[in-house]
Amino acid sequence: MTRPGDLRSRSLLYRNPSWYDELLSGATAPVEAVQALVADYRPDARTVLEFGCGTGRDLAHLAAAGFECIGIELQPEMVDYARHQHPGLTVEVGDMRSIRLSVTADILLCLGNSLAYNHTDRDMHEAFATFAAHAQPNALLVLFTPVAPPPPEAANLAVSRVDTDTIHAEVTTRVVWDDQTQTTTMYRDWVLDNGEHHTDVIQRRILTREQLTTHLTRAGFELLEQFADPGQRHTNDDRRARSAFTAARYCA
Ligand SMILES: C[S@@+](CC[C@H](N)C(=O)[O-])C[C@H]1O[C@@H](n2cnc3c(N)ncnc32)[C@H](O)[C@@H]1O
Repeated sequence: MTRPGDLRSRSLLYRNPSWYDELLSGATAPVEAVQALVADYRPDARTVLEFGCGTGRDLAHLAAAGFECIGIELQPEMVDYARHQHPGLTVEVGDMRSIRLSVTADILLCLGNSLAYNHTDRDMHEAFATFAAHAQPNALLVLFTPVAPPPPEAANLAVSRVDTDTIHAEVTTRVVWDDQTQTTTMYRDWVLDNGEHHTDVIQRRILTREQLTTHLTRAGFELLEQFADPGQRHTNDDRRARSAFTAARYCA
């Protein structure tokens, strides 16, 4: 079972949420994909509920666009950071496998691989039940999650350099696939220019597109579309992509 402390102890970026934001500040593709899907399927939507919202970076964009937003996040330190960075945003500590709020929403989100932290079938089942429990009729659910194992070469060491305003480091990663648990484990070594050394160990569950569809259907959602690249949403059905957006409608 994933616990908040496990995640924090296993990721340098979770111990430093401002670094997380700094590294991902240019990554606006998820929120742009959500806005495009909302325009197509729920142009009347007003309310957004995001599960595993992290630092609140995507929700902050949606709140600025006029949506009423609530974020749910497992790690209390991430929630503290999100509230501090975005004082107008409602962000609560909660577990997507079990939380029950007294609200439902037009748009439900689980972006940035947050769903993949549910490692077992039971975790996944509970997470989808939570999505259904917070869905308005015809709610739009948007997920972004891994849908295929990594290529074999991901098990080799890959070295890269990170240089932002405050982070200067050499980063070495390798990703190991476990067929039995259907999970990847990413080992990421940070050697900061100040001499500090940190190792991340991040485990993620892979659901194939077919398995995702099964979870959706059981929870009362109808699959609308899946695509890997928001920029080529209408032209490119890249079945080989390792991660994908999934859009579904709540019809129960
Ligand atoms: C890779 S981050 C993505 C955060 C954000 N969605 C983004 O794209 O920046 C994954 C987040 O999911 C959160 N998370 C993992 N399991 C969770 C659970 N069961 N309930 C709520 N949040 C969870 C983690 O604490 C982490 O902040």
